[in-house]
Amino acid sequence: MKTHDLSRPWDAFQAANRFRRAIRKFNSIPVLEDDVLALLIEAAFAPSSGNLQPYQLHWIREPAMKACVASACNGQKAAVSASDLIVVVANPAFGKQTALAQLAHVEASSKLGPDSKAYYRKQIRMFQKILGIGSSALWSPLLVLAALIRPCLSLLPVSHLGSRHWAARNAVFAAQTLMLAAAAKGIDSCPMEGFSASKVAKLLELPRGSVIPVVIALGYRADDARIEDRWRRPMTDVVVSH
Ligand SMILES: Cc1cc2nc3c(=O)[nH]c(=O)nc-3n(C[C@H](O)[C@H](O)[C@H](O)COP(=O)(O)O)c2cc1C
Repeated sequence: MKTHDLSRPWDAFQAANRFRRAIRKFNSIPVLEDDVLALLIEAAFAPSSGNLQPYQLHWIREPAMKACVASACNGQKAAVSASDLIVVVANPAFGKQTALAQLAHVEASSKLGPDSKAYYRKQIRMFQKILGIGSSALWSPLLVLAALIRPCLSLLPVSHLGSRHWAARNAVFAAQTLMLAAAAKGIDSCPMEGFSASKVAKLLELPRGSVIPVVIALGYRADDARIEDRWRRPMTDVVVSH
């Protein structure tokens, strides 16, 4: 087994990345509140399109709520045995709110020069259009048609569905950052999409238009957690050189 010199960023990253496994059975040791908070703070540093951060991270720690959400995760052992659950909630409306907050930040900044301010104003205005008129359901037939003719246009962030997909894929960067941050602290996680989205949305009273790309279980692996050898496709299938 390779030893890592954790004072070197690459070794520290690789150690965390290799430690992270989808753990489906946690022991009863709770993750410290400060540690979960630290993970959430790091997750918020994840990149997002236009820095619009169109997501919220719901930290489920109160036992009764945790039991309800775990049950809505189809009672998966990872969810039931987790110390904490993080429900990743994406919504284009959060992106719209961030655009306003970001614009106010840009205008008030004494550090940003005129060129930077002009750049951000232009970019924010563009996103406001996309998330405003662009998110109307009226665009849906056009998007379906465009995706039929040019499949690579399927991910355009327009129409009510396209903008929710856009928000969800941005949120996933925060989810992965959180899991790698957890791994760096020796905390285990399991990403889950096996849940009833409508039940979780109802429990958390999510605003209309919210989608849940993933629920993350956090905890410490149980001694008898089943952890199989990692299998991945060969790099020749993954990487295409040009
Ligand atoms: C979006 C997503 C959804 C997943 N949903 C579940 C799930 O509902 N239940 C589960 O046990 N594992 C789930 N997983 C974990 C995967 O099965 C796991 O990441 C994969 O088998 C690779 O194993 P590793 O994460 O240990 O490397 C999910 C992973 C991702 C990325």
